[in-house]
Amino acid sequence: MTTLLRIDSSAQLEDRSLTRRLTALFTAEFLEANPEARVVSRDVGKDPLPPIDHRFIHAAFTPPAQREPWMIERLALSDRLIDEVEAADVILLGAPMYNYGMPSTLKAWIDHVSRIGRTFSFDLARGDFPIRPILGGKKLVVLSSRGEFGFQPDGLRGHMNALDPGIAACAHYLGVAGGDIETVAIEYQEFKDARHVRSIARAEGRARHLARLLASSSTGQQPVEAAAS
Ligand SMILES: Cc1cc2nc3c(=O)[nH]c(=O)nc-3n(C[C@H](O)[C@H](O)[C@H](O)COP(=O)(O)O)c2cc1C
Repeated sequence: MTTLLRIDSSAQLEDRSLTRRLTALFTAEFLEANPEARVVSRDVGKDPLPPIDHRFIHAAFTPPAQREPWMIERLALSDRLIDEVEAADVILLGAPMYNYGMPSTLKAWIDHVSRIGRTFSFDLARGDFPIRPILGGKKLVVLSSRGEFGFQPDGLRGHMNALDPGIAACAHYLGVAGGDIETVAIEYQEFKDARHVRSIARAEGRARHLARLLASSSTGQQPVEAAAS
C-alpha cells in the first residue's frame, strides 16, 4: 500500500493559508488516483514541536543499549516522527517562505527526524563525507508560497532563497535523493495582482499533475543501508 506523509507548517489556518490549500488539493487528487493509499498527516504549524535541546542531543548520541529511561522518553516523539517518515513512500511538505527560509516549525520537524542511527550513520572512515543516509527510495514534494517572486536559481531573488536549498540539503535524511524532489511555489502573494492569480493557477495545475503521477508510480521503498546503532 502506498503511504503519503503530509506535513503542514503554515502558521495560518486553512482559510488564510495558500500552502494548506495546495497540500489539501494534492492529497485529494492523490487519493482520487489511488483510493487505497494511506495518508498520515502532521500539522506542525498548528501543533509545533518542541525545539531540540542539549538533553535531546545527549540522548540521540548515546548508543541505544546504554540509554537511560529519561533518554528514551526524550527521544520518543522523534522516534514516532521517524516511524512516519520510514513508512512513507511520498513525503509532502507544505512549506511557506518565512524570512527567506523555512518556518521554524518545519525546521524543528527536520531536526527531530534527522537522527544518528535512525536516519543517517556517521563514520569518519568514509573520509570527507562521513554521513550516509539510512533510508532511501522516497519522493519529496514541496508545496510552497511566497509573498515576493523570482526565487528560482537564476531569478531576481535567487540569491535570497534559503528555503528550497535548505530543504534539498536535508532531503537525504528523509530517504530522498536529489533528483526525487519536486517543488511547486505560488509567488506574488503580497502583490495580490494578476501575476498572483496566474501563479496560483499554475501551481494548482502542477500540484494536481504531480499528485496523479506519484499516486500511480510510488510503490515500495528501498532502504539504503541497515540502521547502524
Ligand atoms: C512571518 C512571515 C514571514 C514572511 N517572509 C517572507 C519572505 O521572506 N519572503 C517572501 O517572499 N514572503 C514572505 N512572507 C509571505 C509568505 O511567504 C506568504 O504569505 C505565503 O503565502 C505564506 O504561506 P501560507 O499562505 O501557507 O501561510 C512572509 C509571511 C510571514 C507571515
